[in-house]
Amino acid sequence: RKPVTINTLQSLYRKNEPITMITAHDFPSAHVADHAGMDMILVGDSLAMVALGMEDTSEVLLEEMLLHCKSVARATKAAFTVGDLPMGSYEISPEQALTSAIRMIKTGRVKSVKLEGGSEMAPTIAKITQAGIPVLAHIGLTPQRQNALGGFRVQGKSTASAMKVLEDALAVQAAGAFAMVLEAVPAEVAALVTKELSIPTIGIGAGNGCSGQVLVQVDMLGNFPPGRFLPKFVKQYGNLWSEAEAAIEQYRTEVKSRAYPAVEHTYPIAKEVVSEFEK
Ligand code: KIV
Ligand code: NA
Repeated sequence: RKPVTINTLQSLYRKNEPITMITAHDFPSAHVADHAGMDMILVGDSLAMVALGMEDTSEVLLEEMLLHCKSVARATKAAFTVGDLPMGSYEISPEQALTSAIRMIKTGRVKSVKLEGGSEMAPTIAKITQAGIPVLAHIGLTPQRQNALGGFRVQGKSTASAMKVLEDALAVQAAGAFAMVLEAVPAEVAALVTKELSIPTIGIGAGNGCSGQVLVQVDMLGNFPPGRFLPKFVKQYGNLWSEAEAAIEQYRTEVKSRAYPAVEHTYPIAKEVVSEFEK
């Protein structure tokens, strides 16, 4: 498979072929996503929860993101990689944001960065873009701002709120973003916004009218314990947690009963050596 570049993504967009994106947070999760043919791999700050066990994304540091980005980059041969700028690493000034973005590229070894926010982030997106670093914007529901939004709420449900989503989309496009994530927006609003733009929208909980889709890998694989809350938009394509649990339980049982290791898992030596050794 040929490496996906920014030109590949633009060409998919022109052909109206949906762009596929999934998150990854380490070498194996990136390896399988790359093998499965994803166009884009996002090292999302959702790794705070799914890989580090944190409450939400507000705790994760740029340094921690860099470690995960590096391991994802090592596994990714073809997909276009995006590193998520975590909360606190880009809001202070466009200069702070560019400094963080450069670290993402140089140390994290990814090809582009993502940051949350609409028109208010336009100068920041412009600053990073002008330095030659592609920026994926993220509007609609922006999880890093959950405390200000009053939780994880669908955005764009009223006329005023839908207009805000459109304004944000146009602003981040004008600032130079190469594409944008549209999260938790009614399908009609996302479709209309997508039509108004000349860059791709990557939807998550934004219906079928976007230019592409993204999902959190552990969610779509079912790689989490029973009882976890899943947003409405997640389709669970697998049941990895149950499979892993069943396998580990069987291993436990077989060790306890001495069924494992069996002869075929054991290194042989010659009989004479054994009898000599036993003397
Ligand atoms: O952190 C993340 O996984 C994300 C995607 C859900 C877009 O930002
Ligand atoms: Na994120």
